[in-house]
Amino acid sequence: MNRINYIESLIDSLSAEDSLKAIAALPDEKIAFSTSLSFEDQLITHYIFTNNLGISVFTLDTGRLFPETYDVLSSTISRYGKKIEVYAPDTKSVEELVTEQGPYSFYESIEGRQNCCHIRKVEPLRRALRDRTIWITGIRAEHSPGRHAMSRVEWDEKNQIIKIHPLLDWSLDEVRATVRESRIPYNRLHDAGFVSIGCQPCTRAITSGEDFRAGRWWWEQSSGKECGLHR
Ligand code: ADX
Ligand code: SF4
Repeated sequence: MNRINYIESLIDSLSAEDSLKAIAALPDEKIAFSTSLSFEDQLITHYIFTNNLGISVFTLDTGRLFPETYDVLSSTISRYGKKIEVYAPDTKSVEELVTEQGPYSFYESIEGRQNCCHIRKVEPLRRALRDRTIWITGIRAEHSPGRHAMSRVEWDEKNQIIKIHPLLDWSLDEVRATVRESRIPYNRLHDAGFVSIGCQPCTRAITSGEDFRAGRWWWEQSSGKECGLHR
């Protein structure tokens, strides 16, 4: 049985929290969880920190996040007394990008947007995952049609790493209820119509009936809007 099948069968009937405990107990793995400080990610962080699991928690600080997102980072560090590793974009690349193309190049073309995402997210992610063997994310199937087809455990060819999504089958209501029940710090933008939260200039609130990711890169018409972290 290969490692992916083994981990799949190990966590198959376990809750998200117990899955994280089982993954953390695997020998010889170097495990990291990437948090965007969203509702779902805060729940995973809570499980990792309250159970003292051997899983590093890191965030990609693009330099363009909402002040409210930095507030959650701060309140999470205080609440749990644990470190969240912060990965920032390469300074030279950002200097060149903004000098050459200005601070809003992402609105001008899909290529401009993808270039900014590459510099501020994808390249720092590559550094964050270096020397790790398992990458945990807060992806849920409900996020987008593309995420419906995903498995809880998969091989990420691009990053050459096993990727695990413990909350894949959870609904937003379940996540929200658990976060509130356990009094986990969360981004107050979630109470103002923001569901999927990324960088400030590229995220807006959604109205009822709109798609979960409609507020991300809303000016782009293409259906598969992704920043390159997961595709
Ligand atoms: S994105 O690709 O569109 O930006 P999304 O916001 O749906 O991703 O979040 C999905 C998962 O990607 C999160 O649960 C988290 O694991 C990871 N992620 C997204 N943004 C960040 C970030 N800034 N820092 C760390 N992880 C992130
Ligand atoms: Fe740049 Fe917007 Fe991508 Fe953030 S989401 S990295 S600001 S293009």
